[in-house]
Amino acid sequence: MPAYECITVENESRVTTVTLNRPRKRNAMSPQLNDEMLDALTRLSSDPETDVLVLTGAGESFSAGMDLKEYFRETEDDPVLSERTKWTMREWSYSRLRFFPRVTIAAVNGWCFGGAFMPLISCDLAIAADEARFGLSEVNWGILPGGLVTRDIALSLGYRDALYYALTGKTFGGQRAREIGLVNESVPRAELDDAVRELTTTLLALNPYALRATKEALRHSATMDYEQATDYLGAKAAQLARSDPERGRAQGLSQFLDTKEFKPGLGAYRR
Ligand code: ACO
Repeated sequence: MPAYECITVENESRVTTVTLNRPRKRNAMSPQLNDEMLDALTRLSSDPETDVLVLTGAGESFSAGMDLKEYFRETEDDPVLSERTKWTMREWSYSRLRFFPRVTIAAVNGWCFGGAFMPLISCDLAIAADEARFGLSEVNWGILPGGLVTRDIALSLGYRDALYYALTGKTFGGQRAREIGLVNESVPRAELDDAVRELTTTLLALNPYALRATKEALRHSATMDYEQATDYLGAKAAQLARSDPERGRAQGLSQFLDTKEFKPGLGAYRR
């Protein structure tokens, strides 16, 4: 990995942790940070050592959203730079992260505002610290929720909560984020690393090809009509069966029906 300045990338036991690392600016997302995230995700998507990706923030913030100075003010008089900057942000935080070929987890350790909802919602799973503070703060200074956040909060939260928080700009904590479905779980800050570790341990025991196919199937089929989804999901299942080098389906059937060494309802087959 190159020596990045605005993010860090660490791998331990097949889990890669990417940390937004501008703590003095509350990890606000600057053009440089966005460039580095795009580069890192592009490299990591074919990294054989990465089976799970965790996204978090350094210090007391997950991210304070877009960098109001570098992302907005300093690009507003340069349409080409402005367009390029927006494209890079959308590309990493929406396309690359959402369809990252491994399961992704957002570990929301602190402040999470505005544009930070993009990477948060693009991650497959999310665990928050109870002490984290979320806010769709855009309305506080007269703009729409950033990028595709406007579209995606309605899908993640449901219309009532999405409208409430987008219209009031009120902040909420980790437990409230869990109640409204923005994160899967919220734990005290001191327990966040353990909660993430427990989740990654569960994921690492599972067939990575099945995990990838499952997230792709779920994300793509959500916007298809019934007939398209039936066809696509049938094809996706066939693709998984053919391309899985572990032949997980056959192993699972055999370990349940022949050797009787596991119960699929209660856990994963022995890999
Ligand atoms: N963009 C640029 N700089 C930022 C941002 C940001 N989004 N957030 C914080 N900073 C900078 C501050 O300007 C300050 O810089 P300085 O030390 O050079 O003066 C430094 O980070 C620390 O910020 P403080 O405000 O002093 O930190 P504090 O802990 O008191 O407050 C908080 C943290 C609540 C996150 C506050 O900084 C804040 O409200 N930030 C903006 C949050 C926001 O609304 N983001 C959404 C933007 S809209 C969008 O993303 C589409």
